[in-house]
Amino acid sequence: MTCESRKILTLLSLHTLPLLLFQFTAVFSIVSIYILLHALVTQLNTLFSPHISSFPPLPIAPISFRFLTSYIKVLDILDHTLKSEVMPSTMEITNVTEFEAIAKEKLPKMIYEYYASGAEDQWSLKENRNAFSRILFRPRILIDVSEIDLTTTVLGFKISMPIMVAPTAMQKMAHPDGEYATARASAAAGTIMTLSSWATSSVEEVASTGPGIRFFQLYVYKDRNIVIQLVRRAERAGFKAIALTVDTPLLGRREADIKNRFTLPSHLTLKNFEGLNLGKLDKTSDSGLAAYVAGQVDRSLNWKDVKWLQTITSLPILVKGVLTAEDTRIAIQSGAAGIIVSNHGARQLDYVPATIMALEEVVKAAQGKIPVFLDGGVRRGTDVFKALALGASGVFIGRPVVFSLAADGEAGIRKALQMLRDEFELTMALSGCRSLKEITRDHVMTEWDRPRVVPRL
Ligand code: FNR
Repeated sequence: MTCESRKILTLLSLHTLPLLLFQFTAVFSIVSIYILLHALVTQLNTLFSPHISSFPPLPIAPISFRFLTSYIKVLDILDHTLKSEVMPSTMEITNVTEFEAIAKEKLPKMIYEYYASGAEDQWSLKENRNAFSRILFRPRILIDVSEIDLTTTVLGFKISMPIMVAPTAMQKMAHPDGEYATARASAAAGTIMTLSSWATSSVEEVASTGPGIRFFQLYVYKDRNIVIQLVRRAERAGFKAIALTVDTPLLGRREADIKNRFTLPSHLTLKNFEGLNLGKLDKTSDSGLAAYVAGQVDRSLNWKDVKWLQTITSLPILVKGVLTAEDTRIAIQSGAAGIIVSNHGARQLDYVPATIMALEEVVKAAQGKIPVFLDGGVRRGTDVFKALALGASGVFIGRPVVFSLAADGEAGIRKALQMLRDEFELTMALSGCRSLKEITRDHVMTEWDRPRVVPRL
């Protein structure tokens, strides 16, 4: 029996059957009590009506209502108790992947699926993870690893580890604290948070959470005045770089969003665009976000615009969404300060390679002129190490942040970042590396470099 079917059986036996029985008994009791009371009142009326002019009616409706509300409360408690027996709690989880099950349990289906899904067949989504598992280690031994330094510098900013937070839209759907929690948890971990253009908190609000190094992710709208205003606001609010997303002239086809007719819940807005009357997604017959992108995002965006962006801001520009050597060379010529090898968490073009497979090609083309970062499928400290061994200067994580946020707010994200940090530190120790500089290409082997030439000592 598979793990999944065992889980379903456990859920059925622990949960659904007793609940059904309980519900049936409770409904049956309410109906019986109602019939009994009704009979009693009728009898009393018949007995006393000749003697008194009006008999006060028994408050059957309020009694039944109160009974029903207590019954629903009991059901709720029972539901939570039973679920916690089969679902791991945040306290119990031991790796970042486990946050997803808790998030799935807590969030409405439309929201969970918006966060989780990839484009079309979701091949690249699976491959983002699978590809990491095909890269193996060549650890070095008998090296004194009693001191390990995880710190690094990104665009001149010193951070505690090479693990940063990717931009993910609409975080208040995951938890009421949304981007505030992400900003605080990232700052507490001493790392960089990237705020999405489509955040449910504005650049100013996120800046008000306190100190922290933050980047701003930019979607370029057809109306360039909106872009100019937004970039200037981010700059004024103290954001340190622009991550220009270049893989989204149109939104990828995420079928769960189409089926769920995804839209932003009515109590939330895309806060950066609120004053511009562009803060809401319309309800449509398919994905509300796809319609929004088609209406607002400039699909004529091209390399000239990377240069144009440099005329409106002095912030360094990271080009997010590069997967080839050709585009790496053009990005450098266009003045990019860095590159993020990304397939947008496999949410845009399906059947692009896993980012870890595209990384080395980009690193080689960059020739050390600008730093190369990676996101997509990073779930373990070993993944971080593999990316660094293949030449990345650091990695970003997307879904682990939204899922840990949904599970336990700021504390959840802090825990996710800490777990990845601990795992990465352990990987370094077990591979014989005491600083990021000591992580080399020789510490990993990939499918494309076998048979291996043994490095000379
Ligand atoms: C994203 N991503 C994203 N990228 C971006 O440039 N702007 C955005 O607003 C968003 N929003 C967004 C929402 C959600 C729910 C996800 C999952 C992803 C892509 C994101 O920055 C990053 O590239 C991926 O999430 C990295 O992959 P993993 O870590 O999620 O596997």
